[in-house]
Amino acid sequence: MTMRSEDGRATETASLKAPETKADRLMALYNMYLDEYRDRETVMGFGNADASVILIGEAPGRDEVKLSKPFSGAAGKKLDKFLDTIGLDRDTVFITNAIKYRLSCVSPESGRKKNRPAESREIEANRKYLIKEIDIIKPLITVTLGNVPLRAVTGNMKITIGEAHGKIFSSSDGEGDRNKVCILSDVFPLYHPAGVIYNQSLEKVYLEDLEILKKILALKNIL
Ligand code: URA
Repeated sequence: MTMRSEDGRATETASLKAPETKADRLMALYNMYLDEYRDRETVMGFGNADASVILIGEAPGRDEVKLSKPFSGAAGKKLDKFLDTIGLDRDTVFITNAIKYRLSCVSPESGRKKNRPAESREIEANRKYLIKEIDIIKPLITVTLGNVPLRAVTGNMKITIGEAHGKIFSSSDGEGDRNKVCILSDVFPLYHPAGVIYNQSLEKVYLEDLEILKKILALKNIL
């Protein structure tokens, strides 16, 4: 802001604008994303920007695109059930995806759009946005759901959820090593809830991992 001093000289004063909120910073980040991926079916993160917990999925599907909200289809229902078992309310967390556009291709059989797996180069390309998003939210814990967000937050494209689930990765694990965790929150990997829909035998493991997560949340005074 420019003001006049007594001798008439123009002086610059500090701006009186209110400080940027997390929601403002998220919106700016999402606008950059939408600019880069304007030809895609995109869904941005959703929830409490002051949350202590961020949940990160793979990418939105058809239902999520329709409702513009992550985890609003069958996988979301399963996720809600799992969160219920440890008393974690969806309204208190922030939910987003490692890749914010629908991963789709056209089925040669039906000619219709279907989901497809993420490519490593897509995880790498989306990673910068995800890391900034986590940095804005500043959660006490980052819960990844499946391989894709686990690879995105760790920067390790070879790590698998089978080896990492149910173990906490400390934020200091990644210092100085770009191939390890490089965000400022602890990371707790869970299987993707859709994985449990397709493979019922994972349900028991999932519930055991959730019990570990519940203890971690209690230690951090989140639950
Ligand atoms: N699966 C995901 O990984 N993310 C969603 O938002 C929905 C389903």
